[in-house]
Amino acid sequence: MKTQHYKNPIGIFDSGIGGLTVANAIFKRLPNERILYFGDTAHLPYGDKSGDAIRYYCLRIVKFLLEKDCKMIVIACNSAASAAYEVVRDFFQHQALFIDVINPLVETVAAENFEKVGVIATKATIQTGLYAQKLHQLAPNLEVVSLATPLLAPMIEEGFIQNNISKAVIHNYLSHKDFEGIEAMLLACTHYPLIKKDIELYFNHRVQVFDSTDIVAQAVELQLREANLLNPEPRTEKHQFFVSDYTASFEQTTSVFYGEKIELEHCPIWQ
Ligand code: DGL
Repeated sequence: MKTQHYKNPIGIFDSGIGGLTVANAIFKRLPNERILYFGDTAHLPYGDKSGDAIRYYCLRIVKFLLEKDCKMIVIACNSAASAAYEVVRDFFQHQALFIDVINPLVETVAAENFEKVGVIATKATIQTGLYAQKLHQLAPNLEVVSLATPLLAPMIEEGFIQNNISKAVIHNYLSHKDFEGIEAMLLACTHYPLIKKDIELYFNHRVQVFDSTDIVAQAVELQLREANLLNPEPRTEKHQFFVSDYTASFEQTTSVFYGEKIELEHCPIWQ
């Protein structure tokens, strides 16, 4: 791998601002690290796009982040990771470390000895069948039920969380008879940590709900430590948040995902 300096930033990207849930967990766990976040708001939602389109977008975004000297790239979008993780990693692995949101989550859940689990995600993620495939590789007897839940991401972006509308939509999806008897539910979309509480409540806390925020932050720390690239010094430069299409409404919505409003920088890489 190209020689990297521990002071170089971590690049994190998503189709939009959903990946800020993962970025936030990384900031909290690794306060010395500087983050460059890229949200491809010009192309969201990825959940409705083809694998080819998503791969094309991801290759370009990773190139942009590598030009900014990122020592590690975190694919903080399940739709992007399921379509493009292997392609981008194989293409750019000599330049930086790569991590996605799927593998750490799958490894954690597979180690729990469950018999039946559910997976909810965008259409793009579910269509690849990657969660079921990866879970079966590690836990061959595990029954995996997957369901595309495309209304959830836009619902969360509009701030419909812990109210009657979100309750009704969640009920509609999770009452699917195939989910009967599940012991765990995987939130396989980086928007969904924001409705984790609603989902736990729907199942009356009888189902263990997993999301990829803290699990991925932990995996990021481990990989950086192994590569001797954890920054031991306090961060001096600011985090940066780039979007491929800027609107005031995106900027407003960042507070939903990040806990506070952040300034977005327009970076038109597609022009
Ligand atoms: N955050 C994306 C994911 O994890 C979903 C949003 C989208 O469809 O672009 O899949």
